[in-house]
Formats: sequence, structure tokens, C-alpha cells
Amino acid sequence: MSKIYNFFPLSIYRDKIELPENTKKEMIEEIITMKKTSDKGLKPPQNAWTGDTHGYEYLFKNNKFKFFYEEVEKHVIKYMDHFEIDVSKLDFYFQRSWATLSNSKEYISPHDHSQSNLSFAYYLKKQPGDSQLILVDTSKHNEFIPQLFTSPSINRNKIFKKRTLVNTPRINIETEEDDIIIFPSKTLHGTEKNLNNKDRISISADISIIAKQSKNLEHLTPPISEWKKFNK
Ligand SMILES: [Fe+2]
Repeated sequence: MSKIYNFFPLSIYRDKIELPENTKKEMIEEIITMKKTSDKGLKPPQNAWTGDTHGYEYLFKNNKFKFFYEEVEKHVIKYMDHFEIDVSKLDFYFQRSWATLSNSKEYISPHDHSQSNLSFAYYLKKQPGDSQLILVDTSKHNEFIPQLFTSPSINRNKIFKKRTLVNTPRINIETEEDDIIIFPSKTLHGTEKNLNNKDRISISADISIIAKQSKNLEHLTPPISEWKKFNK
């Protein structure tokens, strides 16, 4: 009997963070205020407001978000368990963190966070019908003819009888409010276009993983405490 192996997966973590009602309310109000005070209408109108480009790139320094980041830490460690990583040998840092706020047809174009190792999206406020998270496959191991998975004309001509996980270049993750999605930062991601968002709020962060000690160890970033800054 023939058999198909699906090797080299992309593993995405999903769980829920249930915040106390008043904490959640405070966080939502805080983010709405950040947007109101910083949105000078300079971004292209179809782009969602993102805190990192409006002076709010260190959300974890805000005390109203303290409990939230403590919860995120637990989920990141659980994600590492999936990869059999010994977290006792590593230090984890939130390097930057920000909120996004989308209204009406605003969206976030596909991008990655290449200066970071792990990233997450948490949905603080999300209603059914708001944009979903899109993940785009850049490795496409199965694409044995160039453009086979992405070509609009191949799609129009129905060369594929059906699209499944083995022949698709992008997927939508059907997230709900309170969901957290954790993924490698190098994963290309964005949000769906042309939907009617109603104050959809997400929080993201970039996480760096640093070796606790560097002796006889290559490829991991050595402890930041050992670095020497230029005098320049
Ligand atoms: Fe992102």
C-alpha cells in the first residue's frame, strides 16, 4: 500500500488567555487612548494602526499589562516543550511589544519580524467577521513547479481539483477573542483584506532567545551581559 509522509512541518501554537474582566477593560481603554493620541493620519488609510510605529513599542513596561505578559511567558515555555527545547539553558526576552487596532477594511500586509526569534498575536478584542491571521509559506517544499501554488491563472483554470494543506501557499487561522497564536518570527504573516473590522485589537511581541552561557557553543546569541559596546 502506498504511503505519503509529510515532513518538515511548521508548528503553530494556539491557546487561550482568559484575563480578569476589569484587567481586559483597562487594557482595551489604554490601547484606544494610545491610538487616539498618536494617530496623526499619516499612515495609508487601508493600514491598521500599529503601536510600534506610533511610539508604543514597549507595551510590557506598562503596568496595566503586567498580568498579561506573565501569562504569555507560560505559553511560550509550553511552545518550547513542543520542540523538546531545554529552557533551563536559555534566557527569553520580550524585546518589543505593541498593539494593533483595525477598523473597517484596514489590514496588515504580509511581513515577518526577522530581527526576532519568536512572535505572537493575542486577540484582546475580536468579533466574528473581523479579519483573521494569515500565514504565508515561503519554503513551499511541495511546489515542484515554480508558481504552481500561487499562480492566479493556474487557479482560474482549476489545475487543482481541491486545495488542501499540501498544496496551499497560505492559510487563515480562525482565531477568536482571547486566543494567543505563537509562531517563529520568520513566518510571513498578515491579516485578511476587505472585511469589516469593528475595533479589532491584537497585541504582539517579538521574543529573543539567548544562551545562558556560551562556552563551547555556536549559533546561539551569547549572554548580553558579556557583550562589549563600542566606545565610538
Ligand atoms: Fe507581525
